[in-house]
Amino acid sequence: MRRPFIAGNWKMTQSRAEAVALAQGIVSQQGKTEIEVAIAPPSVYLDAVSQVTKGSAVGLSAQNMYHEANGAFTGEISASMLLDLSCKYVILGHSERRHILGETDADVNRKVHAALAAGLVPIVCVGETLAEREAGNTKSVVQQQFDGSLAGLSNEQMSDVVIAYEPVWAIGTGKVATPDQAEEVHADLRKLLETRYNSNVAAAVRIQYGGSVKPDNAAELLGQPNIDGALVGGASLKVDSFLGIIAAAK
Ligand code: PGA
Repeated sequence: MRRPFIAGNWKMTQSRAEAVALAQGIVSQQGKTEIEVAIAPPSVYLDAVSQVTKGSAVGLSAQNMYHEANGAFTGEISASMLLDLSCKYVILGHSERRHILGETDADVNRKVHAALAAGLVPIVCVGETLAEREAGNTKSVVQQQFDGSLAGLSNEQMSDVVIAYEPVWAIGTGKVATPDQAEEVHADLRKLLETRYNSNVAAAVRIQYGGSVKPDNAAELLGQPNIDGALVGGASLKVDSFLGIIAAAK
């Protein structure tokens, strides 16, 4: 049985005070349940937010990291630094990093290896653009990202990874994939896990859906057999809507 996992990606939003208040609002209402929950504040607020999430049922995630362990990499943050701030997860290969910051599958792959080696749970994002979908290339694009981003992992390592399928055209647009559209890609990803790894890995790995998830569309998406959670952007910035999505996962 895969434990449903809902994560909120706050992106580059919030002041320090807003981040702490948002975390407090979520932590105060989110007890330990069968749903795994995490929030990903901007890295500069991880320390402040970790004081709020400490000992709670809400896990802390970073939005990115660098693959090197330490050294002369101005502006970058290592996996061990994130662990030092009590992070459990790190989002890697988000489409905004791929498309705006130019991250490649090879970059993501180096980060995945570094995160796993340090003991962080990587949430690895894949997803096609609108042009790629309209050209009928969704399956091949997602497969290429899967193979490139997750190359060289053992079965054991892969079992610890969380995958997030996030169609780029659905992120921040209000245009959510239909449950059938999402489930089709999730089922393809599950098959890839089985062929590239094995059936135990395929059964264990959680695959989140992301892209305009809201409290009113979450239940139908999360009801699909291969959708094991959600990576939520905009709707994770309000306590009520984030909790509404968690409630829909139950
Ligand atoms: P959204 O973002 O929920 O605002 O569409 C999702 C994401 O980027 O993870």
